[in-house]
Amino acid sequence: MALVLERKELICSKNFIDGQWLAASSGERFAVTDPATGERITEVADSGPDDARAATDAAARALPAWRDLLPKERAAILHRWNALMLAHQDDLGALISLEQGKPLAEGRGEVAYGASYVAWFADEATRIYGDIIPQQQRGKRMTAVKEPIGIVAAITPWNFPLAMIARKIAPALAAGCTVVAKPAEDTPLTALALALLAHEAGVPAGVLNVITASREKAVPAVGNWLEDARVRKITFTGSTPVGKYLARESANTLKKLSLELGGNAPFIVFDDADLDAAVAGLLAAKFRNGGQTCVCPNRVYVQSGVYAKFAELLSQRVGQLKVAPASDPSAQIGPMINSRALDKIARHVDDATSHGARILAGGKRLPELGPNYFAPTVISDATADMLLCSEETFGPVVPLFRFEDEAEAVKAANDTPFGLASYFYSQDVKRIDRVSRALEAGIVGVNEGALASEAAPFGGVKESGYGREGSKYGLDDYLSIKYVCQGGLD
Ligand code: SIN
Repeated sequence: MALVLERKELICSKNFIDGQWLAASSGERFAVTDPATGERITEVADSGPDDARAATDAAARALPAWRDLLPKERAAILHRWNALMLAHQDDLGALISLEQGKPLAEGRGEVAYGASYVAWFADEATRIYGDIIPQQQRGKRMTAVKEPIGIVAAITPWNFPLAMIARKIAPALAAGCTVVAKPAEDTPLTALALALLAHEAGVPAGVLNVITASREKAVPAVGNWLEDARVRKITFTGSTPVGKYLARESANTLKKLSLELGGNAPFIVFDDADLDAAVAGLLAAKFRNGGQTCVCPNRVYVQSGVYAKFAELLSQRVGQLKVAPASDPSAQIGPMINSRALDKIARHVDDATSHGARILAGGKRLPELGPNYFAPTVISDATADMLLCSEETFGPVVPLFRFEDEAEAVKAANDTPFGLASYFYSQDVKRIDRVSRALEAGIVGVNEGALASEAAPFGGVKESGYGREGSKYGLDDYLSIKYVCQGGLD
């Protein structure tokens, strides 16, 4: 099945600034390629600081009117955007699969997932309450009101080209902020298509601006937003080194930051776990998007009593996964995003085997399918001195570590600077309570591998960042609290 869009104009190649499609001011462009084949899909604007500033100028002009709309007026526009996303689910799903490589069913699923954040925050827009503070002195009324923080810069990754940008833009717009956004250079097309649909939904000119930039140009372009005092907030999903860079470089104007950064998720299987459920949960959590999500289990700790059985059950299932391009309807694992990603995965597997690990399934590149494919892999006898223990592999590789008791498992799970997701399987209620409290992570899956939901707070602790996306807490990152003290009322 070819990845063809019914509505071809959803493939946009210019920046979207102030409601208009504009080439980069330098006239430069860069190629967007299909990771399944390495072939060029199209070219998009290679933006620099002038384009970033033009986007901020538009967002600044649009802010007063957008902020002053009634919350239910903003909500109505967001609901229309949500409806248009769902009406274009097939086309957007195909576009995601085309530029990112994930199987078509996952591409379509991501459209529904991303759209659910838009609907959620449309409703939340109407529930931005403040407080009347209990009276402290006669003649004085003290209130706390919530206001939009201002212009938000959203910088998004390639692994979920639609969901990650939707769950940043939706709360920002719901709160009354205006947005300048830059999607990842590997997957800019879905973000531009979303901007087109937002415009059709009635988002006014300048409220949402999207610019694209190559790896080389992104630093000066985003640098312009970092220096510009009018940009009051940065929301970023991506690597921890880049998150730290953004925090450092935005310090001069003390911007508010939401950073959803790298993970190194542990997945613990205790002796008392339902092993079939644990295998199913691990497959769902690990192989979603080919292992390229921040919440994918990276280290799987299995208690010694069930280690051999679990390894056998898992390897059988992993060996059956179908690796194929998104155009094949039976595909379960697609290509990795690019050759750098593939090289990292291969390096982790080679390092593990050179330190004594054994390959139970996969373990190799699949060049016969295309340039960026890696076989779903299970590795046994993994140890803490291997690269795949300390670094996020971001690919379809499951390393199995053996442990003897609960304290050892929890200590190993927490022995990382990261703290985004964690998972464990156990049927002992007291252990479930103990281990949920002991794990240092923003998200804990207990006997469950599929955690994502627009109604849940998504975010990390430690070097996985700060801020929460989704849920009733997700708007807070886009609001500031103003205390108003009115005197002379006696
Ligand atoms: C991520 O990889 O950053 C997000 C994954 C998710 O939404 O579950």
